[in-house]
Amino acid sequence: MALVDFLQQLEDLAVEAVTAFESATDADSLEAARVEFVGAKSGRLKAAQKGMGAVDKADRRAAGIQFNEIKTRIDAAIQAATERVASGGASAAGKPAEIFDPTLPGQRPRLGHLHPITQTIEELKDIMGRLGFSVADGPEIEDEHHNFEALNIPSDHPARDPLENFYIAAAQKSNGKPLLLRSQTSTVQIRVMENTPPPVRIISLGRVYRPDTADATHYPMFHQIEGLLIDKQVTMADLKSVLRLFATSYLGHDVHIRFRPSFFPFTEPSVEADMSWGDDWIEFGGAGMVDPNVLRAVGYDPEEVSGFAFGLGIERLCMRRHGVTDIREFYKNDVRFLHQF
Ligand code: DAH
Repeated sequence: MALVDFLQQLEDLAVEAVTAFESATDADSLEAARVEFVGAKSGRLKAAQKGMGAVDKADRRAAGIQFNEIKTRIDAAIQAATERVASGGASAAGKPAEIFDPTLPGQRPRLGHLHPITQTIEELKDIMGRLGFSVADGPEIEDEHHNFEALNIPSDHPARDPLENFYIAAAQKSNGKPLLLRSQTSTVQIRVMENTPPPVRIISLGRVYRPDTADATHYPMFHQIEGLLIDKQVTMADLKSVLRLFATSYLGHDVHIRFRPSFFPFTEPSVEADMSWGDDWIEFGGAGMVDPNVLRAVGYDPEEVSGFAFGLGIERLCMRRHGVTDIREFYKNDVRFLHQF
């Protein structure tokens, strides 16, 4: 027998059986229906099971799966009918109208909401959008050109150590070009500049990956926001103003920014930016003036244009704002934690 015919038979049987159990009004009619459909010796379900032997061998597995499914449906109908008859209810078809008591408290639907990290991302986009930055996206699986080379990160740089990155072994074999999960959103700077002439004013927000052991402040996957502004005569004063406006908007009160000298291969000079927090300074992220080598790598003329870039951890911002002390909380998906935001 063809599989489709067998499946149709099963379906017809199920519909008939469910109807019979739903219209059973008392113990006798329920028992009669039970014997007819699931009786151990000559029940129709039993017959259908035997009929499976006639299905083409190749299709027998599919037939078996569907048979089990139908059996579950019929069992559920029996269960429901048994409970209804035992509690003196009429048949499902002729059920007396339920008594509606308007004084009972209603059942509130449980509403979900966006994850706190997604909320933060949306808010950051909003703030930077007001400052004229549009959002750019890039792939999470990257090549070494965008993750390192065009960013002026030489092959002997410690950040390129295979142990510091998630390289994708299968891709490496297939076309000889190493691929990895991006370790920073700075990759998107390159992708945007490769495809657009200056001026550029973008942010990019998304996941990055590093093989760190998870603890209160590290997780092998986290989110960054990257900013890039390229134009004529951009200076560090512009960078500081943008970061200050950004932090002030996010935290809702006047925030000061402090620069400490640092080093990143793709910026020169490079800084660590701190923001004022009460009487303390807390680390905000890395930033700097885009290195001329990076501008040249994407075909820009460093004599013509200059720019700044910055990269901040989104989890850290969100944790600060809400007083979350362990980054792992964000990824446990415990609703008791998440519903607070
Ligand atoms: N990509 C750097 C990191 O992941 C952060 C960073 C520093 C981004 C300086 C920048 C920058 O754009 O200018 O550690």
